[in-house]
Amino acid sequence: MKLHHVIESQQFSVPALMELFSRTMQMEKIVRRGGTKDYENKLMATLFYEPSTRTRFSFEAAMVRLGGKVLSTESAMEFSSAVSGEFLEDTIRIVGNYCDVVVLRHTEEGGAARAAAVSPVPVINAGDSAGGQHPTQALLDLYTIYHECKTMDGLSVLLIGALDTGRTARSLAYLLSKFERVKLYFLAPREMQIKPDILKHLDEHNVTYELLSRPGNVLSQVDVIYQTRINRERLERTDVDLRQYNIDETVLHSIKRDAIILHPLPRSVEIDPAVDRDPRAAYFRQAQNGLYVRMALLSMIFDSEELSLT
Ligand code: CP
Repeated sequence: MKLHHVIESQQFSVPALMELFSRTMQMEKIVRRGGTKDYENKLMATLFYEPSTRTRFSFEAAMVRLGGKVLSTESAMEFSSAVSGEFLEDTIRIVGNYCDVVVLRHTEEGGAARAAAVSPVPVINAGDSAGGQHPTQALLDLYTIYHECKTMDGLSVLLIGALDTGRTARSLAYLLSKFERVKLYFLAPREMQIKPDILKHLDEHNVTYELLSRPGNVLSQVDVIYQTRINRERLERTDVDLRQYNIDETVLHSIKRDAIILHPLPRSVEIDPAVDRDPRAAYFRQAQNGLYVRMALLSMIFDSEELSLT
């Protein structure tokens, strides 16, 4: 399966996802052995214009575990020529000549697509602003669901949070729409509900969904709870009790015995640390999968580049 730029999650077909997941399982074994030298001639540049812990470190660890090398700047906004007002396109044209792949987190929606349009090498979108996408997060989220639930078909998935700007939830909704009989529930304060572009896509793909502003009894019905943050400062209303969207030990009594709780992290008050002890709390396993999925993704991109040279 050929893979070049990774910009949005809807670009992945189900066969491509299955190839990625098969490679991901191999990568887990490779990491247990300490890594491989298979990609020792490859160089990856990470350009992050916004802060990151998981995405940047896991991409960099992935490249090193594959035997390759990393070019990085601590904060591209501060330590690149963005300080002098350099256009993103110019930066990408330059950096793309020094490496084999660029991993980009940008402040503007569509930043990764703009970069891909001029880049001499593949560009991976590591998150393009609030309201954009974070496709590699969605890939590791979906892999975690596949690994823990053994299927995607027929699952009920609850997404909670500021869903209008939630790039991880947006990317995951696109990926889940590719599977059979999936039901999606979107739980958010009404001014933060998932945007119409996602709903249009779900309608076009005959995916069933419900929009909720209160949890009611939905928590007891779903197989996957995908929790994200809500920033109170974005709410104009002062009478919204955000605690109803949080997950604490009380909530654990009402969810299915085999449900899983995911969160892209970092978390704040929306998941009580006491929940971490419950085996259904899968968010740290999810973050660990990020390493294996990103190794698999890089290997698919590099193998595709080799194929196009032959
Ligand atoms: N989930 C995620 O994107 O985390 P970081 O912001 O730490 O990369």
